[in-house]
Amino acid sequence: MAGVTRPMSQMRKFETKEALFRARKRILKCLVHAYLKQEGYFHTADTFVSEAALTGEYEVCDNIDLDIILQDYCSYYLMRFNKQPQFCRKVEEQRPVKRPQTRKTRERTEPIAPPECECKEGADLPSTFTVTKLLQDEQAIETISAIERKPIAGFLAHMTNDKKQLVELLYQDIIRPTGVSWDDVKGLSSAKSLLMESVVYPVRYPEVFTGLLEPWRGVLLHGPPGTGKTMLARAVAGESCCTFFNVSCSTIINKWRGETEKIINVLFEMASYYAPSIIFMDEVETLASDRSSPGEHEASRRLKAQLLTEIDGIGGREGIIFILANSNMPWEIDPAMLRRLEKRIYIPLPDFKTREELFQKYLNAKNVELFPKVDFKDLASKTEGYSGSDIKLVCKEALMTNVRKMLPSMSGKGHLPNRKDRLNLADILTAIEKTKPVSKNLTKRHVEWQNEMGCS
Ligand SMILES: Nc1ncnc2c1ncn2[C@@H]1O[C@H](COP(=O)(O)OP(=O)(O)OP(=O)(O)O)[C@@H](O)[C@H]1O
Ligand SMILES: [Mg+2]
Repeated sequence: MAGVTRPMSQMRKFETKEALFRARKRILKCLVHAYLKQEGYFHTADTFVSEAALTGEYEVCDNIDLDIILQDYCSYYLMRFNKQPQFCRKVEEQRPVKRPQTRKTRERTEPIAPPECECKEGADLPSTFTVTKLLQDEQAIETISAIERKPIAGFLAHMTNDKKQLVELLYQDIIRPTGVSWDDVKGLSSAKSLLMESVVYPVRYPEVFTGLLEPWRGVLLHGPPGTGKTMLARAVAGESCCTFFNVSCSTIINKWRGETEKIINVLFEMASYYAPSIIFMDEVETLASDRSSPGEHEASRRLKAQLLTEIDGIGGREGIIFILANSNMPWEIDPAMLRRLEKRIYIPLPDFKTREELFQKYLNAKNVELFPKVDFKDLASKTEGYSGSDIKLVCKEALMTNVRKMLPSMSGKGHLPNRKDRLNLADILTAIEKTKPVSKNLTKRHVEWQNEMGCS
């Protein structure tokens, strides 16, 4: 009997040991992750999460951090051994090990050419040397955005602990170039050139945009839903090498009294550190709605006041900071905010040519075969009043018709390589019939508002 129980108890012991080992590993990982975040190494922390397969299941307790653990360990060590523990030691320079001369090496008579690395200063480089410039010219460094060049630690150095947490929050809202380019946005040429003039050129040629010509502080893009306003903003992020802060209501509005103002303050400080920066506010009417409207909460008033003050202070900050706001209800924006959004550009529904280009973009793809050939002009003329997003939906619906026919006869899970969806005009026309434009009736109000308040 004993022979049976012993291995069981040993197994249990082994399992307990294993569990302890796993728990210790988990604690260590959590501590390291928290430490990285605390010090502002957010990139590294993110990578660490994926490499160490950390799930959000555990977090470090409030009163614990690596620094404190280290201090505690030092006191314990001092008490026990009466000396400070050693954690790191200076790495000694590795010298090549000198071997005693052997007879063979002593006998060699022909002179040995000195190794290339022993060239004397000033001596001509051997012809085999090639010097490669890491950056092609002076300008190249400007094409690397500040977020890639500047470590966040430099910014955090002067921050109080509570502000450091806000920095982390805002750091998550910085978006890297998204791969959307000007060419992806069809039509809207006047909006594009205005954005070039307001954001891209002042960053490229700051010496031109001084004095009265100082860059615009803010631009508002307004228009019916689905006309490509957000897409345009993403293209600006991709085309300029500005740091792009995508600010949403959820980031800024904090349940703790006073925190919201602090977040806005940190946001502008950070934008200045990483300048040139774009602070992008999508659906700006939710952040800066008219303060005279009834039922306005005091906290919301304070938020707006802080936002307005910070925008006013942009000129005094170091570097270029630019506000890019989007709205499909500009009449709800506070007038004081509107004054600061100096350029107010109307983004209309796509015209005939743009609709044609959009159909071409979505249906002239490699995996779609149009049979018989479809005239995109014909489709454009049938979709007046449709937004870019509506046209995308039409194309999706038309392709779905085809897939719907295919689905019942499909078997197995395997994907279909080189699959081509066959589309005919009838499918597309049915899709147009089925998809009603949502933004058509809003155009009039936007045009009226643009005539009254616009500036483009
Ligand atoms: N001019 C355009 N060129 C290319 N694609 C477009 C264009 N307009 C709209 N689209 C398509 O419609 C989708 C929705 O566009 P987007 O989100 O930019 O609209 P929006 O104007 O910001 O809408 P909302 O006001 O509702 O936020 C885009 O992902 C894109 O596929
Ligand atoms: Mg949008």
